[in-house]
Amino acid sequence: MSGPAGVHPAAPAPGGTDTEVTRSTCMSSSAQIGVTGLAVMGRNLARNFARNGYTVAVHNRTAARTHALVEEFGHEGSFVAAETAKEFVAALERPRRLVVMVKAGEPTDAVIEEFAPLLEPGDMIIDGGNAHFADTRRRERALREQGIHFVGMGVSGGEEGALLGPSIMPGGPQESYDSLGPMLEKISAKAKDGSPCVTHVGPDGAGHFVKMVHNGIEYADMQLIGEAYQLLRDVAGYSPAQIADIFRTWNTGRLDSYLIEITAEVLSHVDAATGKPFVDVVVDQAEQKGTGRWTVQIALDLGVPVSGIAEAVFARSLSGHAALREASQGLAGPKPTPMSEAEASAFADRVEQALYASKIVSYTQGFHEIAAGSQEYGWDIDLGAVSAIWRGGCIIRAAFLDRIRAAYDTRGDLPSLLSAETFAREIAEAQDDWREVLIAATRQGVPTPGFAAALAYYDALRAERLPAALTQGQRDYFGAHTYRRVDRDGSFHTLWGGDRSEAPA
Ligand code: 6PG
Repeated sequence: MSGPAGVHPAAPAPGGTDTEVTRSTCMSSSAQIGVTGLAVMGRNLARNFARNGYTVAVHNRTAARTHALVEEFGHEGSFVAAETAKEFVAALERPRRLVVMVKAGEPTDAVIEEFAPLLEPGDMIIDGGNAHFADTRRRERALREQGIHFVGMGVSGGEEGALLGPSIMPGGPQESYDSLGPMLEKISAKAKDGSPCVTHVGPDGAGHFVKMVHNGIEYADMQLIGEAYQLLRDVAGYSPAQIADIFRTWNTGRLDSYLIEITAEVLSHVDAATGKPFVDVVVDQAEQKGTGRWTVQIALDLGVPVSGIAEAVFARSLSGHAALREASQGLAGPKPTPMSEAEASAFADRVEQALYASKIVSYTQGFHEIAAGSQEYGWDIDLGAVSAIWRGGCIIRAAFLDRIRAAYDTRGDLPSLLSAETFAREIAEAQDDWREVLIAATRQGVPTPGFAAALAYYDALRAERLPAALTQGQRDYFGAHTYRRVDRDGSFHTLWGGDRSEAPA
């Protein structure tokens, strides 16, 4: 069997057919890693391994895709094209490392069901999809009984990241990381200081949990950027091209990040068909695959306030309610007041402050959720290490993450990012502008749920007293739910329907 340079046929599985035996004379169990599921992410990850010198077995449900990959990219490295599950498994050196890159959910279970019976104790199934961490925990438990290591691996960076270096968040047993880690370190993105953007996040579902929160933060970042854009457009009166320039300038400062960079690219793009700004010809209904929603659902279960991420999820769903929005077009609102050039420029500076302060809050909330998940599931996640591996390769990569890492390096048990001296000081400096921006947005009727939720979170945290005391009183009134007192231990109930005396509960 011939193929492009560096492409090997697969070895036969035990008990394979005659054809497979013929193939085995060329090559046997030579691949250090295998990738099954060759849609764009899987294909690019396979190429990344190959380009880094590994022999990669490749397999896809439809063999045509496998052959297309080796035909097109075989020259990049060493591939073993496997047509069947048996061939694929047989092509892998032991312990086998089998990366699954299929759509999260049922397809992942189907692939596991197909491959697990062909594997032996010590082999690894590595799920690189956006799986729900609870599924990962379930799969890890089930496969552990067979002695198979299941690694739920978050991969961020989109198509390009998968090929050129993603940020990788593997969970699963430490033992599997010992074998897999060096390979992941090789193919991962590198931070500016050269360190690989991968770490063993923790056992079972820890990697997918952290990837989920990464995506929740991604939603919040994108929403905040969207609000900044709309304020610059509707309040300051800038055109998309001008706003692109503003984002480019911001990208040279503390907001330096991939998402700000691509925002400038999207805003400066002009639609070839109409000559209009691209952003004006795109339907303004944001879609989602669900990881941001999961972040909020799990935060609710864990009792962690991720209001900024939640507003980002809600903003996407609101945007999609076309009929509701259509029916609301006549609702009253203020008329925009035009700004002078000088006012607009000063306002843009304020928006930068508001965006930065709100961003600090989103990350604070996201890291709180990771800490809470880590505690709930006994993962012992190192928050500093998580911020370190998000510095390169992933969608939320940003200069800012270096500072988060430094904050956790200084104090690993920071109660909140806001309590890090550096962020507390920056927010103190930003807060007047942050409030001014929200006043302007409210006055002019521009929706800024992300900025507002972030500020409300900040103000609630720093408040000496919250109306929660009143809530407790109400609960005790209508449901005898009891309350605690500020001056004594224990729980109490007031006899609201009687003489209003208080009794210990
Ligand atoms: C990443 C991205 C990636 C993907 C999300 C987008 O880290 O590389 O987050 O996982 O682009 O699935 O999710 P939505 O479709 O929900 O926006």
